[in-house]
Amino acid sequence: MKKRGWEIPEREATSEDVYLNRRRFMKAAGATGIGAVGLLAGCGSEAIFTPAEGPEPIPEPTGGGTQEPSGSTTETNTPTTTTPTTPTPGPLYPAKVNPEFKTLDRPLTKESVAASYNNFYEFSTGKTQVKALAEKLTTEPWQVVVKGEVQKEVTYDFDDLVRKMPLEERLYRLRCVEAWSMAIPWTGFPMKALLDEVQPLSSAKFVKMTTFMRPEEAPGQFKNTHWPWPYVEGLTIEEAANELTFLATGTYGRAMPNQHGAVIRLVVPWKYGFKSIKSIVEIEFVSEQPKTFWNTLVPREYGFFANVNPNVDHPRWSQATEKFITTDAGNPERRPTLLFNGYEKYVADLYPQKPR
Ligand code: MTE
Repeated sequence: MKKRGWEIPEREATSEDVYLNRRRFMKAAGATGIGAVGLLAGCGSEAIFTPAEGPEPIPEPTGGGTQEPSGSTTETNTPTTTTPTTPTPGPLYPAKVNPEFKTLDRPLTKESVAASYNNFYEFSTGKTQVKALAEKLTTEPWQVVVKGEVQKEVTYDFDDLVRKMPLEERLYRLRCVEAWSMAIPWTGFPMKALLDEVQPLSSAKFVKMTTFMRPEEAPGQFKNTHWPWPYVEGLTIEEAANELTFLATGTYGRAMPNQHGAVIRLVVPWKYGFKSIKSIVEIEFVSEQPKTFWNTLVPREYGFFANVNPNVDHPRWSQATEKFITTDAGNPERRPTLLFNGYEKYVADLYPQKPR
């Protein structure tokens, strides 16, 4: 893969090879309704939030803490599967920092705090319980199916995909619709790099992304059978091609921990956090706007676009300010919410009418 000028190592390589070797070993070895709202702890719980109270009070944290595309060269719309090949040697993490996204207007959230205060409803509605429960998620092997209105339908083995893509680190603000926020260093690759690989057809107007469906591993899916699983999110094709749109495979200089959405998740920092779907197993290019998880469950509260906007309140609380979590989830800083979460210069052109 061609090196770019800014690809200068900023950190010492860690023991990532150990992780990768383990993944290779494992691969070889194994080769709705509105009535549900009251149950939710986060993105919309009337049981937790009331208009008078505002968003959920933040509890104390519990934790301390090129290879050639094998099989992807067929010409038109023929499903293929990547076969195990010898991956490009060398550690993946930490990746070089992209200088465009090297600094933020605020400090990074402490890693142990970000890693123990998570929204991942497949496991729990309790943010501090997700980390332990998500340990059950099997992440090896992992495949990502790319299908639909594209030139090349491909089933990627994750280990091949991550070796093929141009990994970099970016510091992004994360703003949850519940009015808390963090600042997180993600490692991954621009979604545009994947689009360039699979070549969407002109009929592809939206990208639909889907999380795993494994009630046997994910207690939230097992218990809440009336929710519209699997979790689905979507973007317009223009949003997907935007330079900010990131498919993250790691965080804080390491491979993605399960609770943050291993092994691969979306990060769209100008949108409310629920758009940043975790643990993706399928990416489908479609001609119609897809039905998404939260929009299906509570359409009045969670729109398809969901761009961060201090001037448009959630029906049950203000979005004018946010609780920024740095070193202590129990003691956040209050900050003004930024239009498009501060990413207006990158995305305002996508919404010529007005922010949605
Ligand atoms: N993706 C899936 N599959 N399931 C989820 O419950 N929660 C979303 C988003 N992605 C969610 C998801 C919400 S509401 C937020 S705020 C972010 O993940 C939180 O990401 P983090 O836990 O890594 O900070």
